[in-house]
Amino acid sequence: MATVKAVRGTRDLLPPETELWNLIEATARQVFARYNFGEIRTPIFEDTGLFARSVGEETDIVSKEMYTWEDRARAQSEKTQSLTLRPENTAGVVRAYIEHGLGESGQLQKLYYVGPQFRRERPQKGRYRQFWQIGAEVIGPPSSGSESPLRDAEVLEMLATLLQELEITGWTLELNSVGSAADRAKYSDVLRAALVDVAPKMCGDCQRRAVTNPLRVLDCKVPEDQPIIESLPKIGDSLGKDSKDHFAQVTAALDAAGVPYKLNRRLVRGLDYYTRTTFEFTHGGLGAQNALLGGGRYDGLSEAIGGPKAPGIGFAIGLDRLVLTLQALESTQAPAPAAKADAYIASLGESLNAAALVLARELRRAGLRVELGDGSFRLKKSFEAADKIARRIVILGEDEHQSGILTVKDFTTGTQTKVPRAELAAYLARPAGE
Ligand code: HAM
Repeated sequence: MATVKAVRGTRDLLPPETELWNLIEATARQVFARYNFGEIRTPIFEDTGLFARSVGEETDIVSKEMYTWEDRARAQSEKTQSLTLRPENTAGVVRAYIEHGLGESGQLQKLYYVGPQFRRERPQKGRYRQFWQIGAEVIGPPSSGSESPLRDAEVLEMLATLLQELEITGWTLELNSVGSAADRAKYSDVLRAALVDVAPKMCGDCQRRAVTNPLRVLDCKVPEDQPIIESLPKIGDSLGKDSKDHFAQVTAALDAAGVPYKLNRRLVRGLDYYTRTTFEFTHGGLGAQNALLGGGRYDGLSEAIGGPKAPGIGFAIGLDRLVLTLQALESTQAPAPAAKADAYIASLGESLNAAALVLARELRRAGLRVELGDGSFRLKKSFEAADKIARRIVILGEDEHQSGILTVKDFTTGTQTKVPRAELAAYLARPAGE
């Protein structure tokens, strides 16, 4: 019979690699807490309309990559509903912000999330159909200061700090402004006019988008279309004074904080909700999928999905890509040896298994990492098994059980010692060889 495998574009994360994932997540949580963020967990599926109205109907994500299904009605009175596995988390966070009236306090909301996202993209290194993001959003009514360029700079400075704490070097922050909603509308008109003559020479998607949403023509990856895209007017030329001033304040604050960046006037990002500041952190070690994280401001998103005016800014880090980057950086250094358990308990015979379980519980409750044999091995085989996974072996034979004095062998030094049960936890907690 054919075996069942993980679905294309999905994968299992196994130990010890999951330790690195946990370490990154724990570091991110610590850094975010210092910037006064709290965690939000939104559902993994949402009403399809949420993504159509926020990320945008004509984006690659919504038009080609979503896992969408019609949910069956359970009763005659129930309607069917189109549901979608979340392809990103900003829309869900803003929906939750509106649904729970989080803006009513007048306070700026600073929310972070860690979780899987789903996009039906062509899988390759660093690009999966289920992937993980660590993201954060800063959102609030205008009176909370949510529009301030300081918020943009603070978020970018936080990201630089997080990458530094993770010891990730060699990243580039690419920065742009796509202007206010009005600037974008103006730029759309300019693009639409410029595309009239050239669009017929472009791919089918571009021909359609030239009419429906000209900005999305800039996302086209078809090689033949690139020279045409390169010759189109740039968004920077359509920015009004307010947008330019806002961006100048963002860059001035970054300069003051010593966060290095590179201006990339073509960075419009593949989601419709962005206004003003947009950014990506790229890393050379990643190959073709070089965006480690991306984000930007979305001053009109809440209103686009029926909420109050609530400007915001946020980002999402591709956790899979962060792990790849760290692994690439670490492989240039000596690999860390896999951590071994503090002790392996070998009971000599199955009749001592219950006593071994009690001893293991005692040591584990004292904070030690303990592996438990099942009494089926002879002594020699127990030693071999223990040597592979633990620093020390504790022998529990009938004598040891009766006397309460255990035999412990240290694999680093090869020495064997008798240790009273009451002193065992403290003895095993000592570094190997001591
Ligand atoms: P995004 O640029 O679509 O933005 O995704 C952010 C990051 O997620 C990317 O830079 C990349 O590292 C990772 N990523 C995206 N697709 C994949 C994939 N198929 N496989 C592996 N990693 C992937 C957003 O999702 C926005 N919600 C970010 C945001 C938050 N903007 C404002 N707030």
